[in-house]
Amino acid sequence: MNRLEGKSALITGSARGIGRAFAQAYIGEGATVAIADIDLDRAEATARELGPAAFAVEMDVTSQASINAAVATTVARAGGIDILVNNAALFDMAPIVEITRESYERLFSINVSGTLFTLQAVARQMIAQGRGGKIINMASQAGRRGEALVAIYCATKAAVISLTQSAGLDLIKHGINVNAIAPGVVDGEHWDGVDALFARYENRPLGDKKRLVGAEVPFGRMGTAEDLTGMAIFLASAESNYVVSQTYNVDGGNWMS
Ligand SMILES: NC(=O)c1ccc[n+]([C@@H]2O[C@H](COP(=O)([O-])OP(=O)(O)OC[C@H]3O[C@@H](n4cnc5c(N)ncnc54)[C@H](O)[C@@H]3O)[C@@H](O)[C@H]2O)c1
Repeated sequence: MNRLEGKSALITGSARGIGRAFAQAYIGEGATVAIADIDLDRAEATARELGPAAFAVEMDVTSQASINAAVATTVARAGGIDILVNNAALFDMAPIVEITRESYERLFSINVSGTLFTLQAVARQMIAQGRGGKIINMASQAGRRGEALVAIYCATKAAVISLTQSAGLDLIKHGINVNAIAPGVVDGEHWDGVDALFARYENRPLGDKKRLVGAEVPFGRMGTAEDLTGMAIFLASAESNYVVSQTYNVDGGNWMS
């Protein structure tokens, strides 16, 4: 289909995982996509796999200079930016008494500051273009409720939900829709890392936590990145023009809000 025909998208952290699946889906709808990632080699490999409508951009969302450069490169390569997905994020976990400042600062710097200042840079570009735009932030079910071992990551995702509300209210006067997606548990390399951390802190065999969380999803299994692409296309397309500041759960029924 052609719901994003002629549109230009910048997706942070899209060398792999959910961001990569969104890039593929957007290209399938006619968009050109900047595969923006701190891992340039992987971004280049992904862009090659996705074909001529994808191009790789080195981007570290914790650096303002890198954000500005990635926006400028995308504008130069694709003629502007119509869609931003703030997808890059990092996970960590520890009991409260073992949390370190370093982990706190790293997660907030990527998940929260990275989201806000990438959103800001792209919003400035969209306002200058004068044709509106779509901004999609990746939240999480972790932002809906705290978890004993996951305090920092949960707090970063609650912040993303709040920033989505405020930015959406401020930017809709420019025709820029800001909304978020809150996935549940999505299988892939990210969750391999989460599973390994749970194995350590809950003294489980590797793979056990994954099996458990998958079995607990009302739908009956963990999600896949492809399970999220329908919502990502909707929020990037004209079909969502009247949708402002919302966070949508796409989690197989895990959470209701
Ligand atoms: N996988 C899940 O179960 C799940 C659940 C809820 C929410 N989410 C959220 O969805 C998004 C994507 O998750 P995923 O599973 O694809 O993660 P992932 O770890 O597989 O991919 C993250 C990507 O971000 C990149 N990245 C890391 N730091 C960066 C930085 N400073 N600048 C730019 N890029 C950077 C990585 O290189 C990687 O390609 C994240 O925001 C995550 O928090 C994931």
